[in-house]
Amino acid sequence: MSFVPRNLLVTGGAGFIGANFVRHWLARGGDGRVVVYDALTYAGNPANLAGLDADPRYAFLHGDICDEAAVRAALEAHAIDTIVHFAAESHVDRSILGPDEFIRTNVLGTHALLKAAKAHWLAGAARPHRFHHVSTDEVYGSLAPQDPPFHEATPYAPNSPYSASKAGSDHLVRAYHETYGLATTITNCSNNYGPYQFPEKLIPLVLINILQGQPLPVYGDGLQIRDWLYVEDHCRAIALALERGRAGEVYNVGGNAETANLTIVRTLCALIDRRLAAAPALRAAYPQSPAARGGRALELITHVRDRPGHDRRYAIDFRKAARELGYAPSVSIEHGLERTIDWYLAHAEWWRALLGRDYAAWVATNYRR
Ligand code: NAD
Ligand code: TYD
Repeated sequence: MSFVPRNLLVTGGAGFIGANFVRHWLARGGDGRVVVYDALTYAGNPANLAGLDADPRYAFLHGDICDEAAVRAALEAHAIDTIVHFAAESHVDRSILGPDEFIRTNVLGTHALLKAAKAHWLAGAARPHRFHHVSTDEVYGSLAPQDPPFHEATPYAPNSPYSASKAGSDHLVRAYHETYGLATTITNCSNNYGPYQFPEKLIPLVLINILQGQPLPVYGDGLQIRDWLYVEDHCRAIALALERGRAGEVYNVGGNAETANLTIVRTLCALIDRRLAAAPALRAAYPQSPAARGGRALELITHVRDRPGHDRRYAIDFRKAARELGYAPSVSIEHGLERTIDWYLAHAEWWRALLGRDYAAWVATNYRR
């Protein structure tokens, strides 16, 4: 029996990927509702959803996924048939400094959400529904250089409190399908980048630090490999999983872009130097940037102490998603980085507001210092 998603509850919709997904889904048309349910932690930002209030299909609810009663009320009030679950603590470095919040939100919060969904959709006569859980390739652990990429049956081997908490949530989602018949799907994706990403993550952090003439911290030797996925490709994959994914299944989503961290950092240096060299207005806007001072951004690269438990390599085999969902990434890493730079240059007010808020405090308490 095929399922057609209609009214969505998007947990974590004020975060990076969630906000991109909400915009992507609404832009596809249709008259179903999109209700964002978000606790607005440091990573949740109403500015990520700016302009959507005018859309009658969109609503925002301020709430915590750990609050099962509030989630149930939201499911009831908005006739929700589909949950797209992004809400999480998402930054590995923070999980090293303070794992408790990761266990609370990612494990207990996902469980509260599952309980609410089960009570709402499965009590009495079951209603058509879908619970989609957004997870990460980090649950599979670390690959050696010659290892084949992660596939859906790769054994779980999480190495950070973050990935362990996501692994726990994945297992709970699976168990609610196997035990209670909840119609679940899971996508495990690689590192995302693009608009609205909080500047604690590698790509926006480096981009903004180049513009401000700040050091570019590269952990260890910088030869760790990630498979970079442009956020729009990820949003497309989730929409496909909602529409074509089979209940109880897991789909890996990758970007076909395995790249070493140092290569990402050097590429951003070269691209931003080139932008500033060609645009006097940008040099005036960012006078601390090396290109505005006759230097090169590469000079800002600073190798710092490695992250404890740092995974060496992630790579994704997305053939199942290609076969069953018709998914393929469409944005190359070169094009994706160019688009990301365009967006951050055009939205300086968005990231400058964050620097004033939490970013400085985070940088000051980072374990690297
Ligand atoms: P993010 O940190 O940018 O956003 C998380 C959002 O969840 C924020 O809006 C925050 O306010 C909200 N939130 C946190 N705790 C909450 C709670 N208890 N109740 C309700 N809302 C809460 O994260 P992101 O990068 O957009 O990641 C979204 C999802 O994708 C996460 O589940 C993450 O594990 C997964 N993922 C992310 C990446 C990546 O590269 N960013 C890669 C793979 C998987
Ligand atoms: P990050 O964006 O934190 O994502 P994840 O840890 O989920 O992969 O980091 C991406 C890679 O970049 C990771 O190998 C750690 C590294 N990194 C740095 O070298 N310097 C930094 O300042 C940050 C934030 C990350």
